[in-house]
Amino acid sequence: MPFLYFMDNREREKILFQFVCEELSADNSGHDHLHAMRVVTNARLLLEKEGGDESIIIAACYLHDCIDKKLFENLPLQKEKIIRLLQSLDYTKEQQDTILYIMENISFSSGKSKDLTNINARIVCDADRLDAIGAIGIIRTIEFGASRGRKFYNQDEVNKSDVSSYSKETTLAHFYDKLLLLKDLMFTDTAKRIAEKRSAFMVSFLDEFYEEVKE
Ligand code: ADP
Ligand code: NI
Repeated sequence: MPFLYFMDNREREKILFQFVCEELSADNSGHDHLHAMRVVTNARLLLEKEGGDESIIIAACYLHDCIDKKLFENLPLQKEKIIRLLQSLDYTKEQQDTILYIMENISFSSGKSKDLTNINARIVCDADRLDAIGAIGIIRTIEFGASRGRKFYNQDEVNKSDVSSYSKETTLAHFYDKLLLLKDLMFTDTAKRIAEKRSAFMVSFLDEFYEEVKE
């Protein structure tokens, strides 16, 4: 009888982490391997409370930004590398398809995420979004803006206080376009609870910011 060997989740995780480090550790726009690790940590907490398939969720969390068009020019190549990696980790074809489906459908900006019904996809989406808000969300957003050479704010706009007219070329606009909306878009109750606290922290940050800079 031949010896059959299947990788366990710990071994898979080590290799997934190595892959993400190779692909994203040089990123300076808030999408590096540390982001992937925090998304994994968030997902574990949600998984514990809400259930779901750990091997699918963890792989999708580690890999989710490895096919982002903002970060990679050659998306077919990225997809090919990911499929090869998942094959080498003994994920079945069906599991590979699920992981890729999740990665391709959780983005806020693409608008696709609102129709997610699968619990694994919902957990990955919530885990990624929790890392877009709170203290870490503020840091990542400033990092992203800086990586694109953007100013944080425009003095005239801040003085007028009409957030709907903020130029998309400032980082501050991103708080109103996305970050402050996320708490109402979480799927799981656990993520909703964490998001309320993180969102309130961003509101305090903005209050303090306006108090310091308004003329
Ligand atoms: P999604 O694909 O779900 O929209 P992104 O990868 O675009 O997520 O965004 C992840 C994080 O990157 C944001 O939460 C924010 O911190 C930062 N980011 C993305 N776009 C911008 C932007 N235009 N201005 C400032 N930060 C941004
Ligand atoms: Ni992400």
